[in-house]
Amino acid sequence: MNIPTSLTRFRMFEDISHSGDGGIYGELLVNRAFQGSGATIGSLPGVPGGSVVSSENPIVPFGPVITGWKPIGDVFIHLTQLHPLSDALPIVLQLDIPFNATGEVGILNEGWWGIDVRPQTYGASFYCLSNGPRNNGSLSGINVSLRSNLTGETWVTSKIPTTNVSSFQYEHFETQLVNQAMAPDSNNTFAITFDASEVAGNTFYFGLTSLFGETYKDTRIRKDLGETIVDLGSRFFRFPGGNNLEGYSIEQRWKWNETIGPLINRKGRVGDWGYYNTNGLGLMEFLNFCEAGSLQPILGVYAGFSLDIFGQEGTSFSEDQMNLILEDILNEIEFITGDTSTTWGAKRAEYGHPEPYELNFIELGNEDWFSSTYPYRFPILYQGIKQVYPNLTLISTAFDENDDYNISIPAGGLWDKHDYQTPSFFLENFDFYDNWQETTDNEGVKIFIGESSVFQYDTPSGVVNYSNPIGIHIPYPNLVSALGESVYLLGAERNPTVVDFIAYAPSFANLNWENWTPNLVSFTANRNETVKSSSYYMEQLFAHFHGAETLPVTTVSGNFNPLWWAASVDDGDTAMYFKVVNTGNSSIPLTINTDRALTAANGTIITAPSLSSFNYINNQTAVAPSPITNLPSPSGQAFNWDVPAWSINVLQFSLG
Ligand code: AHR
Repeated sequence: MNIPTSLTRFRMFEDISHSGDGGIYGELLVNRAFQGSGATIGSLPGVPGGSVVSSENPIVPFGPVITGWKPIGDVFIHLTQLHPLSDALPIVLQLDIPFNATGEVGILNEGWWGIDVRPQTYGASFYCLSNGPRNNGSLSGINVSLRSNLTGETWVTSKIPTTNVSSFQYEHFETQLVNQAMAPDSNNTFAITFDASEVAGNTFYFGLTSLFGETYKDTRIRKDLGETIVDLGSRFFRFPGGNNLEGYSIEQRWKWNETIGPLINRKGRVGDWGYYNTNGLGLMEFLNFCEAGSLQPILGVYAGFSLDIFGQEGTSFSEDQMNLILEDILNEIEFITGDTSTTWGAKRAEYGHPEPYELNFIELGNEDWFSSTYPYRFPILYQGIKQVYPNLTLISTAFDENDDYNISIPAGGLWDKHDYQTPSFFLENFDFYDNWQETTDNEGVKIFIGESSVFQYDTPSGVVNYSNPIGIHIPYPNLVSALGESVYLLGAERNPTVVDFIAYAPSFANLNWENWTPNLVSFTANRNETVKSSSYYMEQLFAHFHGAETLPVTTVSGNFNPLWWAASVDDGDTAMYFKVVNTGNSSIPLTINTDRALTAANGTIITAPSLSSFNYINNQTAVAPSPITNLPSPSGQAFNWDVPAWSINVLQFSLG
């Protein structure tokens, strides 16, 4: 018997498909601080590698834009850098209210493709400065409201009482919107308005605006999306990438120390997925979420390699510069785990978390087999970190993927293997882990499948086409995805001394901006439109029915394919879990004989009428678990059942 692995109780996260800004980061305002914008990287005829082929800001790719903001009433708005809010946030919105303006005047924000308005309390804030010479000081207050973008109906308003807005320095205004209304859709806006009779002739400057609704356990994580992570049964959380850790250039990499501290000091960065990252979702926001959700962080650290524009190998730190990277990583670890007598531990305390965070796993980079330089970068970082933190488990992002080299991973380390594949690949690799340590001479090294999914249907060549051809690519996980992935999981579950973790990737996509498909969970601004995929439900099922020990299973008749199975037993030896998947198109009789009396059986099944059935906004549970009806009772130490075609099942037996 073996100790079972954590397997699916692990999630991978990076800001891709607006899954961070506009996603799990609970900020409801788009372009809240005028930090940057989007651009498309593509190929231009005759130009090797990638290029910026279109840009939201027509002059400066990824530069600031006014997108998402609109004027209310007879006013003019534009961006200005003449009244910077801070060094990090130099661009603000200028609102000019003409002398002859009447009625309501101000600005509105359209949110991340809408704003979810339902009964809850919203926290709103913004910085504001007025133009001295024109400020007549006749103000009674500033109105903040949520309203329909279709009808203009106001759902909730709060008036911030103030007689004046300083023209000397920015003031931070805050209020709560205690909302009772349930808007029919998410086509809503957030407005900051004045009565023109009080402010006609004035100019105001706005910076770092913000609106948060309910969040996961008082973190900064959008509540329902945070819950999808924790409810899956997750215990581990990898962040911040993925490609998004690495940057389009060394300068644009995810710099942990620029993601901490007051928001007014976070300038953000150009993310790796075509849009600007605000850095609101920073290191402490991730770690606080891990604490609140009882998740162990698996921290991806920058390992000295940036992707550059896709299509080129990218840029690496040279061997003699790697001390800079090591020092940066050691500082980051000290920030997370150091006590308050250390430089960085004190900084963490200053930012509101005196207690060290728990940290046991560090991943050195991401998919570094893309580079030729990991053979020197990995050992320098591995040894340098181990010298100071011998108890940390370190993860290599490469082993044998690059034809030019193998990485030698020390015993105790993990290999992060990524599989975006076909259903057949996952079936054919059911036994990949059976003797992996022995055959590759990696005793003591375990596997961390940090990213995986069924990415496309089988084709005659079996080759995966990452340009997502229509009809071959699988945009939303469907029944065939869940079937293939579940077989791979069973292969891992049978090898608990080899495989430690498996995560689907990517975890989330905003349906308004999909850099990548398929995704585990898709969402929009409207919480009713959060869709858990077939793969999500399969992983949740497998994570929840998880014995404490894997049981040996001897096959006396038949063989794997199209039936696949694994068994485990719980801690108190009172229940046995038998996971069985049928990838065939007809039911298959199953007989289980055990050495224990089986006193009762319950079961859960995931199946659907078609292999291509998938969950979507209007049919969110097309492929979802349901109790198995008419499950026969066990007879003594045996159990007989016909496993339905195309089905993923967990049978639970009470043991006598
Ligand atoms: O999950 C999407 C991308 O796939 C990740 O950023 C990268 O690690 C992998 O190539």
